[in-house]
Amino acid sequence: MKETTIQLDIYRYRPDWDAPGYQTYEVPYRDDWVVLDALNYVKEKIDGSLSYRWSCRMGVCGSCGMQVNGEPTLTCATFLTDLYPGPVKVEPLNNFPVERDLVVDLTSFLEKLDHVSPYIVRKEDDENDLTSEYSQTPAELERYKQFSMCINCMLCYAACPVVGRVDEFLGPAALALAQRYNLDSRDQGKNQRQDVMFQNEGIWECTFVGECSTVCPKHVDPAGAIQQAKLEGAVDYYKRLLTPWVDRS
Ligand code: SF4
Ligand code: FES
Repeated sequence: MKETTIQLDIYRYRPDWDAPGYQTYEVPYRDDWVVLDALNYVKEKIDGSLSYRWSCRMGVCGSCGMQVNGEPTLTCATFLTDLYPGPVKVEPLNNFPVERDLVVDLTSFLEKLDHVSPYIVRKEDDENDLTSEYSQTPAELERYKQFSMCINCMLCYAACPVVGRVDEFLGPAALALAQRYNLDSRDQGKNQRQDVMFQNEGIWECTFVGECSTVCPKHVDPAGAIQQAKLEGAVDYYKRLLTPWVDRS
């Protein structure tokens, strides 16, 4: 009996090519295969020159994000059964420069992430004190837990129309992480982080389209984090305005 197959139309690009293009591959169709299995089949059996990123194969590392039929998605979590009979178009994530085939350059995101200090900041007087624990209640953990589930897959950046339009926009994942640390009871860096978040290219640039939260495979809800940060920012602004004598450093 003839084996059932499915067609993949894969974006191909090399920096020394005049123009990118699409290459068509026919791969076996299996009920239990995800798009990443099909790409691995191409790489192993048909064309070893195909470049793409992946690692964990279980929706944890965040490295296998691509546009599948125009939607930003984790290719290790997208089953061929949902795309049959095809063809399936596989492209690099939108809104990032392409390095080669399906591999994008994440330098700009890493720089933005660095701007929001995505770690617990302590005041200078006790930052070297490693003798004490900073304990936390379950309720305090719950305040930021959802925003801490990010796997840096960049699907939200590929889906966000503002990221596509404003190069400097900090973007959904970086702002959600900033809010995650602002909500952490052990952190003391909210003021320094808010200085960055409230810049023109920070939270106020977000138009609340909400696509970032729709595509997020970990239900981080970056759009919710940004709206929450906007509200807190406005409240903090008026507090500072009305009670300037209170030390909030
Ligand atoms: S917020 Fe969600 S979509 Fe954005 S990078 Fe994190 S896990 Fe991925
Ligand atoms: S390979 Fe790690 S998230 Fe898909």
